[in-house]
Amino acid sequence: MPTPPRSLLAAAVVLMLLLLLSPAGAQETCSGIAPAPRRRGAWMSVASFGGRGDGQTLNTAAFARAVARIESRRGARGGTLLYVPPGVWLTGPFNLTSHMTLFLARGAVIRATQDTSSWPLVDPLPSYGRGRELPGGRYMSLIHGNGLQDVFITGENGTIDGQGSVWWDMWKKRTLPFTRPHLLELMYSTDVIVSNVVFQDSPFWNIHPVYCSNVVIANVTVLAPHDSPNTDGIDLDSCNNVCIEDSYISAGDDLISIKSGWDEYGIAFGRPSSGITIRRITGSGPFAGFAVGSETSGGVENVLVEHLNLFSMGVGIHIKTNSGRGGFIRNITVSEVTLNGARYGLRIAGDVGGHPDTSYNPNVLPVVHSVTIKNVWGQNIRQAGLIRGIRNSVFSRICLSNVKLYGSASIGPWKCRDVSGGALDVQPSPCTELASTSETGFCTT
Ligand SMILES: *[C@@H]1O[C@H](CO)[C@@H](O)[C@H](O)[C@H]1NC(C)=O
Ligand SMILES: *[C@@H]1O[C@H](CO)[C@@H](O)[C@H](O)[C@H]1NC(C)=O
Ligand SMILES: *[C@@H]1O[C@H](CO)[C@@H](O)[C@H](O)[C@H]1NC(C)=O
Ligand SMILES: *[C@@H]1O[C@H](CO)[C@@H](O)[C@H](O)[C@H]1NC(C)=O
Repeated sequence: MPTPPRSLLAAAVVLMLLLLLSPAGAQETCSGIAPAPRRRGAWMSVASFGGRGDGQTLNTAAFARAVARIESRRGARGGTLLYVPPGVWLTGPFNLTSHMTLFLARGAVIRATQDTSSWPLVDPLPSYGRGRELPGGRYMSLIHGNGLQDVFITGENGTIDGQGSVWWDMWKKRTLPFTRPHLLELMYSTDVIVSNVVFQDSPFWNIHPVYCSNVVIANVTVLAPHDSPNTDGIDLDSCNNVCIEDSYISAGDDLISIKSGWDEYGIAFGRPSSGITIRRITGSGPFAGFAVGSETSGGVENVLVEHLNLFSMGVGIHIKTNSGRGGFIRNITVSEVTLNGARYGLRIAGDVGGHPDTSYNPNVLPVVHSVTIKNVWGQNIRQAGLIRGIRNSVFSRICLSNVKLYGSASIGPWKCRDVSGGALDVQPSPCTELASTSETGFCTT
């Protein structure tokens, strides 16, 4: 056997030394997922475009003019930073452009106008076929981007305030003609960083990257009242290579959910969500801390979620799909979760969520396999949870390892159906479907 060249051996030794010397406990971060934020070549303030941060002046045109100016520069000299000074910047929806940083200074608030009558509409997403809530188009997100590259939304923890209560009221009274707007939606975009910003009171989902790649969301705070309808924190939708970390989310629906389109529209569009890391998230809300679905028709795979610190939740972890969805949910790992207070610890269910219309094919069944939930510690839990597959599409290789859920009195037992997998060190005692299957080699501590 030929001996490896000396230089290779030397390189190996150096690499080993570097590994040994690297500081113990250094935290993993999202670096490398999107290009590191760089200094922009130019700087301009929204105040120079006729904007006024007095909380009264409507700044929609000022934002549009500033973005048009940045766009006309076509990324010259490393792009442009748009500075939003301290103050309250009332605005209607506006678009972003490529090679820009939207920078919210400390004390800067971008506040959505509550005059919803002139709010523009955008087309339905192709993977949904219609608005998520109502047929037809959807209201444009307050901050919107389509087909962009190299976009940062960051600053000194300034606030993007949706003033969503007018929308929530219209939704409750059923007077809305179309689907409510998100606070931030980026479509078909790559190399995106959203960091050090507070999102507050979104009319609908707060942050919605859809058909995007290379996305980092870090150090964000998302706040909406627990009784505000469908104010999900972050919904990743048909996106790949995404990392979310170090964020606090308290909202009216799921805190973070991974989606990929809705029934026949999502199947036809066929764009999965994959390569997703989520870590160090704290929060609470009436639905799930971490969710997959229920819209998963393009498929969801290769997801790692770790270090969730959840309190006062409806459900800790919720993986949800339905007959007619098609698609797949596979290679999902969730670990290191503390859960203080929840109706359900865990739900993995094949009968959740409605359909866009009556044209879906109920015989198109999702495939769910290789889901590992490990190192979960819960207290004040009412029901351990349920794992309910689909009769003709049994959920397989579902692994629960070191999942300990406690309640004040007697915690409701696991309920399982149409599922196989393994369970190790599970409290309360796992259902027989998981405890007794022979498929356990893959499920370890
Ligand atoms: C935003 O950009 C889209 C193109 O992606 C365009 O159709 C729309 O008119 C723009 N809307 C506003 C309010 O600028
Ligand atoms: C998040 O905040 C930490 C600490 O302030 C900082 O080191 C890190 O770079 C931030 N992350 C991003 C993506 O901005
Ligand atoms: C912004 O908030 C994050 C926590 O989300 C914190 O780590 C960071 O230091 C804050 N940055 C500033 C400039 O206040
Ligand atoms: C499963 O997903 C992880 C990311 O969480 C990835 O590193 C790994 O390669 C995936 N495994 C397979 C078999 O695709």
